[in-house]
Amino acid sequence: MDYKSLINTSEVPSHVAIIMDGNGRWAKKHNKPRIFGHKNGVLSVRSVVEGAGEIGLKYLTLYAFSTENWKRPKIEIAALMQLLVVTISNEVTALNKNGVRLLTIGDLKSLPGNCERELRKAMDKTKNNKGLTLVLALSYSSKSEIINAVKKIATEVSENKLSIEGINDQMFNNYLDTSDIDDPELLIRTSGECRLSNFLLWQIAYSELYFTDKFWPDFTKDDLFKAVVSYQKRERRFGMTSEQLSS
Ligand code: FPP
Repeated sequence: MDYKSLINTSEVPSHVAIIMDGNGRWAKKHNKPRIFGHKNGVLSVRSVVEGAGEIGLKYLTLYAFSTENWKRPKIEIAALMQLLVVTISNEVTALNKNGVRLLTIGDLKSLPGNCERELRKAMDKTKNNKGLTLVLALSYSSKSEIINAVKKIATEVSENKLSIEGINDQMFNNYLDTSDIDDPELLIRTSGECRLSNFLLWQIAYSELYFTDKFWPDFTKDDLFKAVVSYQKRERRFGMTSEQLSS
């Protein structure tokens, strides 16, 4: 099915966020080590970034490494970080050629030094690009992000820079890692799991959720297009009735 042709180009979501899951199970299915799954997962990242550009998304956020992922075997973490360094350094020219700006959310300082440096270099090289913004969530925890925002706000209140009455959901956004990014209209999770896993909990308050059984390395831009078509068939009511929306 050619899902791309079914997309209503005037109503493409501005931000799609993806929980990339199932690399390990995909590798197991192919009798290969887990890192083989992660390596093939990079091909899916490339395809989906291309697809996001083709349909004119403004933001694509990929959950690449959670705070909880630090609990994995050291050897897998090291391989994942190496894969990240190599991928970023290999892809930065292509990102520039396609007008993609790279951003990260999460605790970049907790990554290995070479990884942090490569990411900062790539962000700097792509900072003026005006096409898709690719946001990588790395060493990311939504609860930590929210707690950090609360701490910053509490500090400003204690220093009389902010009043308690001045705290509301609009201004709260400014204290999150995603302060300059629209909330995602669509959140996709692969591999058949139906969890949020501490990802963008504040930002997805009104997002449409889309789950697919496909493991991440089998997910391509066509699957992204299929998810967008499904999103466009849904009625987003934001707490209102259908009648209110159509009047
Ligand atoms: C989830 O599969 C995948 C990850 C935790 C890592 C995702 C990383 C990549 C796709 C490669 C690097 C990314 C970029 C952006 C260059 P899993 O290991 O949890 O799979 P399982 O649930 O089947 O074990």
